[in-house]
Amino acid sequence: MTIIKQLSTALTLSTLVLGAAIYPRADESTSIKPACDKADALVPSFQNSIEKILFDSEYKDASIERLSGAVQIPTVVDDDPPNPQDDMGYYSNFTTLHTYLNETFPLLHKTLKVEFINTFGLLYTWEGADTSLKPMLFTAHQDVVPVNNNTIDDWTFPPFSGHYDNQTDSLWGRGSFDVKNLMIAHMEAVEKLLEDGYQTDRTVLLSYGFDEEAGGTWGAKYIANIIEEKYGQDGVMVMFDEGPGLVKLDNTTYIAAIPNAEKGYLDAVVTVNGVGGHSSSPPAHTTIGVAASMITSLEDNPALFDFNVQNPLYGFMTCAAEYSSLLPTSIKEMVLGAATNETLENLLGQTLYNTELTKNYITTTQAVDIINGGVKANALPETTEFTVNHRVAYGSSVDETKQRIFNYANITATSFGYGLIVEGEQIINTTSLGYIRVDYTQFLEPSPVSASNGPTWDLLTGTIQNLFVNDVWGPQGLDNNVYSASAIVTTNTDSKHYWNVTDTIYRFIGAVTDPSILETVHSVDEHVIMDNHLQSVAFFYEFIVNTNDHGQDIE
Ligand SMILES: *[C@@H]1O[C@H](CO)[C@@H](O)[C@H](O)[C@H]1NC(C)=O
Ligand SMILES: *[C@@H]1O[C@H](CO)[C@@H](O)[C@H](O)[C@H]1NC(C)=O
Ligand SMILES: *[C@@H]1O[C@H](CO)[C@@H](O)[C@H](O)[C@H]1NC(C)=O
Ligand SMILES: *[C@@H]1O[C@H](CO)[C@@H](O)[C@H](O)[C@H]1NC(C)=O
Ligand SMILES: *[C@@H]1O[C@H](CO)[C@@H](O)[C@H](O)[C@H]1NC(C)=O
Ligand SMILES: *[C@@H]1O[C@H](CO)[C@@H](O)[C@H](O)[C@H]1NC(C)=O
Ligand SMILES: *[C@@H]1O[C@H](CO)[C@@H](O)[C@H](O)[C@H]1NC(C)=O
Ligand SMILES: *[C@@H]1O[C@H](CO)[C@@H](O)[C@H](O)[C@H]1NC(C)=O
Ligand SMILES: *[C@@H]1O[C@H](CO)[C@@H](O)[C@H](O)[C@H]1NC(C)=O
Ligand SMILES: [Zn+2]
Repeated sequence: MTIIKQLSTALTLSTLVLGAAIYPRADESTSIKPACDKADALVPSFQNSIEKILFDSEYKDASIERLSGAVQIPTVVDDDPPNPQDDMGYYSNFTTLHTYLNETFPLLHKTLKVEFINTFGLLYTWEGADTSLKPMLFTAHQDVVPVNNNTIDDWTFPPFSGHYDNQTDSLWGRGSFDVKNLMIAHMEAVEKLLEDGYQTDRTVLLSYGFDEEAGGTWGAKYIANIIEEKYGQDGVMVMFDEGPGLVKLDNTTYIAAIPNAEKGYLDAVVTVNGVGGHSSSPPAHTTIGVAASMITSLEDNPALFDFNVQNPLYGFMTCAAEYSSLLPTSIKEMVLGAATNETLENLLGQTLYNTELTKNYITTTQAVDIINGGVKANALPETTEFTVNHRVAYGSSVDETKQRIFNYANITATSFGYGLIVEGEQIINTTSLGYIRVDYTQFLEPSPVSASNGPTWDLLTGTIQNLFVNDVWGPQGLDNNVYSASAIVTTNTDSKHYWNVTDTIYRFIGAVTDPSILETVHSVDEHVIMDNHLQSVAFFYEFIVNTNDHGQDIE
């Protein structure tokens, strides 16, 4: 997951003067209130352990130990992990993790039904008193990305040490923030509720894939299918997956950034097939030259932006515009005015596009990530192949992105006198020079957008409001504000496998997210602030109770 990292970009919005867009002051404020909520706090009827979770040093020490133990088990997956059915040995450390979880959360393992899906996937069912209600689902993943051998010495504490540093209140290691912290937080919340004697009305599901970092093909995909079989299409009320949390806007103002959408994905593989032979009598352009020309055309003509105020990013931006003390007035007025003024909407899109840090949120990106061609200095390269990775913008589609590649392949083929085959279909007949072939190997539409209003949203934002303003900051005498807003992430999570089981997916961990940590995800010195981790635990504890208290009628 680099998903959390993405929000660092949005964060920057709060401190950034957006590009150079200067435009006249609008003289009237807008009539439509953009979506930045200060929710009414929802106080759970049952909160026996909230204070303990947040402030008790014994609880904290035990939590440090629980998370540290999980981080110390290196459940690493590579880019292309095997199906467990073909190679169980590859996943042997996951068995160690399962034993560890069983020992660490005894009540949970005694009370909840545990299913092993495709051997290493975990699905826990805490059956509710009222099984006619759709369950709530919390997900995370067990796997972590490898640690680059060359950087091991750069870590302040070794990557699988799970070391807790008292000075910085940080627990270190691969997976400490992506995302064993979330899996452990779910389990800590449920374990504590069970210890407290709480019985849930609505069923709670916990699910953990084991290859999210490689696409979730063997883990989440199988688990989601089982859930769909059992509860039916759209059979789950709400789902939470990994994501950001509360970001600090200024000293006393936080935004709960709640991504309710993610961008799509497309990998295009382009192969230029030409004639071989001795390089003493070459054609004017080798297949490498033709490939280079097409790559240059693609990079010289990036996809245009596609922005309107329906983009989930706009929710986050309205919060920043309304409450940041740092953004200049002209920017604030442009953002807020965009809700009702098309000129300003376009100007905002243009400004976001022209700003390196925000550009990728509103445009389909392309990156040529792999290229291969040629084997020998004196032999013509018969084929040159390259892969273009795209992240498809909200508002665009896989088809539109395919069309772009098609156009540039066609232009290249036509101008070099090559044939063209796209997805197996002969578009231009092969010539004596050769042909270009285009295939699409991986694709995913931009996700559906989950509601950023209505009863489930109110339940979520009301829980956030109560947890932070009343429970986290209140006892410390801190007079902070929190506002909740939609957001979008530019990478994909395991949630992509769950679209059939629920239309309400939030990528949110329920904790303050320190921006400096975002840079360490998938990199050196990954760590989590323990006080923030405890907020996650309290968040899931309160969300379960609040859903039972206030969400009985939610379908
Ligand atoms: C499994 O864990 C051990 C340490 O307990 C580690 O040495 C090994 O590399 C891990 N295996 C994989 C496949 O990551
Ligand atoms: C957890 O451990 C207990 C006691 O050893 C065992 O009976 C149980 O089967 C284990 N549960 C799982 C899910 O492994
Ligand atoms: C990193 O080191 C481990 C163990 O020394 C080795 O198995 C692995 O292949 C190395 N990985 C890379 C990318 O060099
Ligand atoms: C560090 O440890 C000391 C002594 O155990 C304790 O008083 C202090 O609060 C701890 N600091 C943090 C940041 O946890
Ligand atoms: C934030 O706090 C710092 C240090 O306490 C202070 O210097 C600064 O003026 C404050 N900024 C705002 C916008 O309140
Ligand atoms: C929209 O905003 C632009 C730029 O501030 C302004 O010139 C224009 O009059 C506004 N249009 C309407 C309909 O308010
Ligand atoms: C391919 O390119 C040629 C030349 O630019 C153009 O005439 C033709 O319409 C294009 N074909 C398609 C299917 O776009
Ligand atoms: C392309 O090839 C097919 C079959 O080889 C042939 O029937 C067709 O006439 C060719 N088209 C052109 C434009 O040369
Ligand atoms: C979702 O449901 C549709 C329609 O039943 C089906 O075609 C599709 O394969 C399902 N998607 C997943 C990821 O299971
Ligand atoms: Zn992740």
